[in-house]
Amino acid sequence: MSGKLEILFLSNKQVNALAADNMIEVMHDMERVLSLLDEGKAISPNKAVLSWGETVEDENKYGRINAMPGYIGGEYDMAGIKWIGSNPQNYKLGLPRATVLVVLNDPVTKIPVAVSDGTTVSAKRTGAIGGVAAKYLSVSNASNMTIFGAGAQGRTQLEAILLARPTIKNVYINDAFFEKAQEFAEEMSKKYGITVTPIKEPEQYCSKSEIIVTVTTATEPIVEASWIKPGTLMINMADYEFTYDCVKMADKIVVDNWENIKHRKISTVALMYHEGLIKDEDITAHIGEIINGKKPGRESDDEIIYFNAVGMGIEDIAVVTRAYKKALAQGVGTKVTYWE
Ligand SMILES: NC(=O)c1ccc[n+]([C@@H]2O[C@H](COP(=O)([O-])OP(=O)(O)OC[C@H]3O[C@@H](n4cnc5c(N)ncnc54)[C@H](O)[C@@H]3O)[C@@H](O)[C@H]2O)c1
Repeated sequence: MSGKLEILFLSNKQVNALAADNMIEVMHDMERVLSLLDEGKAISPNKAVLSWGETVEDENKYGRINAMPGYIGGEYDMAGIKWIGSNPQNYKLGLPRATVLVVLNDPVTKIPVAVSDGTTVSAKRTGAIGGVAAKYLSVSNASNMTIFGAGAQGRTQLEAILLARPTIKNVYINDAFFEKAQEFAEEMSKKYGITVTPIKEPEQYCSKSEIIVTVTTATEPIVEASWIKPGTLMINMADYEFTYDCVKMADKIVVDNWENIKHRKISTVALMYHEGLIKDEDITAHIGEIINGKKPGRESDDEIIYFNAVGMGIEDIAVVTRAYKKALAQGVGTKVTYWE
């Protein structure tokens, strides 16, 4: 090969300032990604999971690294991979649970063109998916919300859902460590000027919430079906956090990518599928079909809707691609020669 090949390297500060910090833009990216996927203009292979054990408990104890490749078309037209290391025990070392690198590859030559931090990108895009779910699937006048998990994702779920539903006035936050819930409540009530209450007994708060979000590292269900009232949107962002009965009582089951969910085999609805308790035809819609107007979202104020997102590399690739294009135009980032 003749000539010289360069990679643009973007640090966390650079990629965040260029693209990830702006939640409105990240929510727009996520709507586009889900829409393009539905139109067949994206490729999202199943995650490859590098695990140090067999069970969810092992994953919680020893961590894992996920490889999430993909191609996103449309205005992004970029391939790449998200490489996300996670160890839930990292908090004992004062380190974040998850750290992310995103590599972008030219979709024609397949040559890598950029390497970027993707840690905040990942948290923001996950929050944004919750925000998009709230926009299409929650009651329009939602005023109470319960969040389980006062970590990085809990914060971005709140940020995005408040943009989708500015009617929310009361947020209840539960965490396995009550002091984390207290810290979250103090920080978020100041940031958004709403009431955020740390809670220990979630039942009574879930019973009055129109939106319930789970973003924990729990390995057993934490939300019971008897707590769910008509009109509730359940957002299952992590693993086995809602009981099977919660899914059974839902009028609609909406997902980001059913094939990816079945393959990853960790969320409530995925476990139910593998036990033969639900079938492919029980999935009401991919959220991309709802965004594209092929299927309805929420149709009445009484519907109970369960939403699950496994997360896809194309979401991170889209945000980093937006940063990459801006970085080239503005001369931001460090060019590194890797072939000459
Ligand atoms: N679907 C997606 O696209 C996606 C993307 C990113 C992260 N996630 C998942 O979201 C989860 C949270 O990620 P994070 O980065 O915020 O992690 P984090 O470690 O920052 O926060 C997780 C929080 O959950 C709490 N928790 C654990 N068990 C609990 C329980 N039984 N009840 C209440 N709280 C409990 C922990 O104390 C912690 O505060 C992880 O499981 C992660 O895999 C999903």
